[in-house]
Amino acid sequence: MNNNIVWQDTKVTVSDRERHMKQEGRIIWFTGLSGSGKSTIAVELEKYLYQKGFFTYLLDGDNIRHGLNSELTFSPEDREENIRRIGEVACLFLDAGLITIASFISPYQKDRDRIREKAGKGRFIEVFVDCPLEVCEQRDVKGLYKMAREGKITDFTGISAPYEKPENPEIIVNSSMDTVNESVEKIFDYIQKKG
Ligand code: ADX
Repeated sequence: MNNNIVWQDTKVTVSDRERHMKQEGRIIWFTGLSGSGKSTIAVELEKYLYQKGFFTYLLDGDNIRHGLNSELTFSPEDREENIRRIGEVACLFLDAGLITIASFISPYQKDRDRIREKAGKGRFIEVFVDCPLEVCEQRDVKGLYKMAREGKITDFTGISAPYEKPENPEIIVNSSMDTVNESVEKIFDYIQKKG
């Protein structure tokens, strides 16, 4: 880090912004295999919250890899950098007072924990979208599992790259058994009671 950089304090604080918006910011962090349903649930959750009058923003894996992180690959180092940058962005949005929804495979526990710590107690809600690999592979919405099996894609999560299940997530949704609406309601119930 450059030692000649000094933190600039601002006069409008996160509490001011939260009071203005009549809500408290949160990061709702979805993690799970490709094809597990993270983005589908995240999109519906955002709509649900929006309709209830909350201020939200959704960060999604494929979209961020088109722009901010377009130069990153799926090597372990680049995935770490991917999640580090997204964590920084999510914390900025949290500071802006928004309900920030993030949907990324985010396969490493330590990367997710780092964001949890940075966000602060109670402000990071980890949602594990649990779905058996076989089900994700059978869905194969983007045809990527087939390509991974054929060796046309390397470092594919669940096939040739690891996925570390969350050790202690706030919420687990089971996307192979529950409907999208049931998952959204489960998450909203949690936010209302604990969040
Ligand atoms: S992460 O591991 O770095 O968190 P991220 O969520 O940004 O991944 O991107 C995952 C998306 O990229 C998947 O949904 C899939 O569409 C696509 N993808 C392309 N190549 C791979 C790969 N090797 N492993 C996993 N996902 C991949």
